[in-house]
Amino acid sequence: MERDDAYIRTGKWWHDKIIYEIYPKSFMDTNGDGIGDLGGVIEKLDYLQDLGVDILWICPCYQSPFIDQGYDISDYYKIDPVFGTNAQMEELLRKARERGMDVILDLVVNHCSSEHFWFREACRDPQGKYGKYFYIMDAGEDELPTNWRSYFGGPVWSPLPGNPGKKYLHVFHEKQPDLNWENAELRRDIFSMMKWWLDKGVRGFRIDAIMNIKKPFPLRNYNPDREDGMVEMETVIGQTRGIEQFLSEMKREVLDPYDAFTVAEVCGEREEDLPLLMGREGFFSSMFDFREMTLGMSDKGWYDRKPATLRQYRDMCYAAQKAFNPYGFQTNVLENHDSPRCGDRFLQEAMHEITGKNTLTKDEKQALAEKGKKMLAVLYFFLHGIPCIYQGQEIGMENMPLERFEDIDDVSALGEYGCAIRAGLTREEALSVVQQFSRDNSRTPMQWNDLEGSGFSTAEPWMRINPNYVLINEKQQESDGGSVLSFYKKMISLRKNPAYRNTFVYGSFTPVCENENDLMAYRRTGEADILVLANISGQIVKVPIDPSFCRVLLNNTDAFILEGEGTVCLEPFQAVVLEKITL
Ligand code: NOJ
Repeated sequence: MERDDAYIRTGKWWHDKIIYEIYPKSFMDTNGDGIGDLGGVIEKLDYLQDLGVDILWICPCYQSPFIDQGYDISDYYKIDPVFGTNAQMEELLRKARERGMDVILDLVVNHCSSEHFWFREACRDPQGKYGKYFYIMDAGEDELPTNWRSYFGGPVWSPLPGNPGKKYLHVFHEKQPDLNWENAELRRDIFSMMKWWLDKGVRGFRIDAIMNIKKPFPLRNYNPDREDGMVEMETVIGQTRGIEQFLSEMKREVLDPYDAFTVAEVCGEREEDLPLLMGREGFFSSMFDFREMTLGMSDKGWYDRKPATLRQYRDMCYAAQKAFNPYGFQTNVLENHDSPRCGDRFLQEAMHEITGKNTLTKDEKQALAEKGKKMLAVLYFFLHGIPCIYQGQEIGMENMPLERFEDIDDVSALGEYGCAIRAGLTREEALSVVQQFSRDNSRTPMQWNDLEGSGFSTAEPWMRINPNYVLINEKQQESDGGSVLSFYKKMISLRKNPAYRNTFVYGSFTPVCENENDLMAYRRTGEADILVLANISGQIVKVPIDPSFCRVLLNNTDAFILEGEGTVCLEPFQAVVLEKITL
């Protein structure tokens, strides 16, 4: 498919933006209760402005019982007191704007919390108005209306509290009942709530789990994919049609009139649906490219999941660019609050290759890991699309060591632990599976400095702080020109440099040396001609290139790279950005 250049060049306000994801519970605590808060986000606005990011995505901070860390909302109009007040949210919107940044909120409308007024009313009177806001079915004690398995494990149907003989649908946790989007009244309520936030100055939304809002009718069983006789939700949703009606209504009634920016969480999208989802007439401004995040995943569960390699990462990036670029601007991520940290995820195989051949000191290993994190950053940051940085990624935060079952917080990790045990793993093995893939890995408190509490809080933090905060922290990296943080700042200013901005935002993308196993390389061509080149292997690689790519715009090491005319020599994990100079 040809690129839709006419659309791509329409110059929407968000095309050249960089998103920064804030997980407020773990960002910065200002009231000394061990939990991050909006005051903390406000306090760090200068830091974010200095970093150079433009759109702040704030993960759910609405009133919630926090069964799924705020993705279970009990009042869409109210900031949870643990985070602060609505007035503080307004202060945050204003102060971000004063610094040239916009705020988008998380929109979680596939489900609410079982403590939401709507659901409590539905339990009180399942035949009444609010009963119709949910999917409630007659079903005996041992009966399940369908054999669907929830994303967090177990059946999607649970007994409706206080109503023997009735069950309700929840594709996530049982405390997250699914909202019935077939009901026009419910849709109206949701759209009013979105407008209410947009009127306050929110510039758009990150839209949670949105493809789940349409259910297949009549509800039915699918072929089971595990011994439990159930089928995963991805299969059910993958075969469901007809979501257009809801999304076009949302676009027409809410998003377009506000020129809002939206980035949707869509997993396992069908390529033929991309024009519907993003682009000229798409329902959303952008959607996440999650393809790299799903590498190594298995239908059986985390215990069967394989670590991802850099080569797989590269191939998946190329495939994703090919699929998305014709339509518009996907949002590129390396990390988020649902994934392990990127160094732990993508560098391990190549690190083993290197450490297997050479004996490295602890410091040398750390330096290599840092180089690898910077390389990953270069590789995703200059792709076509909108870069999104997850808090802590810019200082190279790492996965959290996990020694005891009691330290697991993530609901999905608890489900996966059980699944691993049922598959015959020992407790130690199951724990090590959770350690690798748990969402807790990215949810540990921000490491602002090397003092007790890592500068995050003066109280006992709600979640354990990664003990490596003494080595990896923002304060120390701020004054170190060679740190991961300083490197992110350089990348951001390069992307925004007026001489290159149009090329990075609107230029074409072409993979280079596709058959070269040890390299990931691509060209961005527009007003300037740029080559991004990285050695993704554990050995030195020499690459013949067009000698006119001789201006080095970025290099993640001090090593010299040009070896005579037309040959570039790259250390393991070295990444460079080169510009073509025409004389
Ligand atoms: C996706 C969110 O990113 C995740 O954290 C959450 O558990 C589910 N959606 C359910 O809302």
